[in-house]
Amino acid sequence: MADKAFKRILVSSALPYANGPIHIGHLAGAYIPADLYVRYQRLKGRDIVYICGSDEFGVAIVMRAIGEGVTPRDIVDRYHPLIKSSFAEIGMSFDHYGRTSNPMHEETSQDFFRRLSERGHFVLKTDEQLFDPEAGVFLADRFVQGICPICNAEGAYGDQCESCGSSLSPAEILNPRSTLTDAAPILRETTHWYLPLGRWQPRLEEYIASHPEWKTNVRGQIGAWFTDGLRDRAITRDVPWGVPVPTEIAEAAGVDAEGKVIYVWFDAPIGYISATREWARKIGDPDRWERYWKDPETMLLHFIGKDNIVFHTLMFPAMLMGYGDYVVPENVPANEFLTIEGKKLSTSRGWAVWLHEYLEVFPPDLLRYALAATLPETKDADFSWKEFQLRVNSELADILGNFIHRAITFATREFDGRVPPLVEPDARDLETLEYLRKFPARIGRSYERFRLREAVAETINLARLGNKYFNDAEPWKTLKTDRRACGNTVHVSLQICAALRVLVEPVLPFTSAKLQAMLHVEGVRSSAPGGESDRPVGWDEAGGSLLAAGHFVDPPEILFRKLDDDVIEAQINKLAGEPAMPYEDPKDTATFDDFVKLDLRTGTVVTVERVKKSKKLLRLDVDLGYERRQILAGVAEHFGPADLIGRRVVAVANLKPRKMMGLESQGMLLMAEDRSGKLTLVTADGENGAVVR
Ligand code: 2FM
Ligand code: ZN
Repeated sequence: MADKAFKRILVSSALPYANGPIHIGHLAGAYIPADLYVRYQRLKGRDIVYICGSDEFGVAIVMRAIGEGVTPRDIVDRYHPLIKSSFAEIGMSFDHYGRTSNPMHEETSQDFFRRLSERGHFVLKTDEQLFDPEAGVFLADRFVQGICPICNAEGAYGDQCESCGSSLSPAEILNPRSTLTDAAPILRETTHWYLPLGRWQPRLEEYIASHPEWKTNVRGQIGAWFTDGLRDRAITRDVPWGVPVPTEIAEAAGVDAEGKVIYVWFDAPIGYISATREWARKIGDPDRWERYWKDPETMLLHFIGKDNIVFHTLMFPAMLMGYGDYVVPENVPANEFLTIEGKKLSTSRGWAVWLHEYLEVFPPDLLRYALAATLPETKDADFSWKEFQLRVNSELADILGNFIHRAITFATREFDGRVPPLVEPDARDLETLEYLRKFPARIGRSYERFRLREAVAETINLARLGNKYFNDAEPWKTLKTDRRACGNTVHVSLQICAALRVLVEPVLPFTSAKLQAMLHVEGVRSSAPGGESDRPVGWDEAGGSLLAAGHFVDPPEILFRKLDDDVIEAQINKLAGEPAMPYEDPKDTATFDDFVKLDLRTGTVVTVERVKKSKKLLRLDVDLGYERRQILAGVAEHFGPADLIGRRVVAVANLKPRKMMGLESQGMLLMAEDRSGKLTLVTADGENGAVVR
């Protein structure tokens, strides 16, 4: 299979959950590698379609919505556009970016569910599952947290342990707690559909065995799953957000369809199919998607992070085989994780570099390059801002930018911007041209094998070669002594610049466009989606003579500005604790009358104690001068009694009292919550009972 020649390629990047912005860990795992690969293949002139979209279902999104007191729809409507636009700004060249809440996705997922059900590929099981008696809901996936039965780490979720990466089911979690209420779950009966993966094991083993060329990290993980033996996987959930289980199937099985949805890991990979269908409709050829999914001459590739391996190499292929007619993934080049400054990336602790924030400060190509050069291809890799600076300053600016600049400046100044003819080239010129000719194939071999770091390093090597050639040929000397030799040096150097204009495009598409504006290379194919794909000059031609004698080039612009230490320091400091999320939307206008209705008073906290059985509540007595109030505050996860006792506070004194956990709360303390969820008390000096206005 590995050497089979395919007619077309379909590439996907993992659909990101629409419950937060994109960070560089995402980029390094599934997006930058895929985009490089796709752009390379487009320049090769391959028939290729690149698909992605937002993954909008699943418990993580429901939890975020509950946490914010909004609906799941509010969450995905907030993040889908943010993700989509920051992907566009970093130059992700998707042919289509969809979203799984689109009707096409529901239709495609339900069709899959129906067909697999009709073909007897599911089993229905009724068993006891964890139920939160306080919230009155079943605790699927991330609604349960506890100790990992595999590695004993605290904080493992019901579907996965983030410490050891094991995939889990809620019932396996030790000391389970509800993440909604912190209640200890009870067991209650419920009925669900399962995909008995064990039945597929022989066929999946055969399939994986036919791909010895897959990356060892991927094959290693799969091997461990096979050794354990594949088990039944529940593919429905009792959650109020997701693709509904088709009613007629539920009815035929005698199950109440109300509230039953398809598990997010069943519908998400189908998102690749529904997004391809949307793409086909968008380009006015609605049936075209089938060619990419059903013709055996398609090479299907999924770029993902390592936590997604099992779903893409076992579960999704089993679903595709079960449905019939579909191709299965030809390769799943999964990456390991990216650490930041030597520490595990953590969005909750703000230890992350957010793409939309990066883009406010730096040009997209710098990050594309720095990440591509550091990809966690075979093991975890580290991103550090100092290394980012080093790569930009000493590789992009000093090697690539410098070579282009000196070659074009020289041509502009000494040859009026005209490419001199190559006349009686000497051995160095010929050797260099010969070397140049081999570069596209040499870099290409690395791309074809998904060795993208290597591909990028080889690309910079071409600029290194250019610098060395230019230095050794010393055209500033031959200018005075041998104008023919000088012209040859400029000719060869400009051919290298033109080759770089094509060969850097996968990793540096914005820089490549700037190079094009200086060099005006004619007839070059585009690596952009839907771009000029039938032009004569592509990857394979890049090592040849792209600029004819007499061709005019424009004076160069600076391609890369060096990054100063203070800019880098600012990023490091920001990482250490600055909030990570977007600012909350501004609220509607309030009138002055609305405002003065609130009786805000200063006071002093005199007693603080935890409320029994509550993870969140503290009971405080607050001295408001004219009276003492009992106030319940949901801040126990942020402050201990010692943090609050004796503190001067501002309270809302005329809030209607309400009962919580059997106690009356007679007011509310003002606090500021930053974007990472950190709380700080609003305080005031002066006497207790002073009116705040
Ligand atoms: O891990 C994740 O972020 C998932 N949303 C990836 C889904 S990949 C695919 F199957 F859609
Ligand atoms: Zn674990």
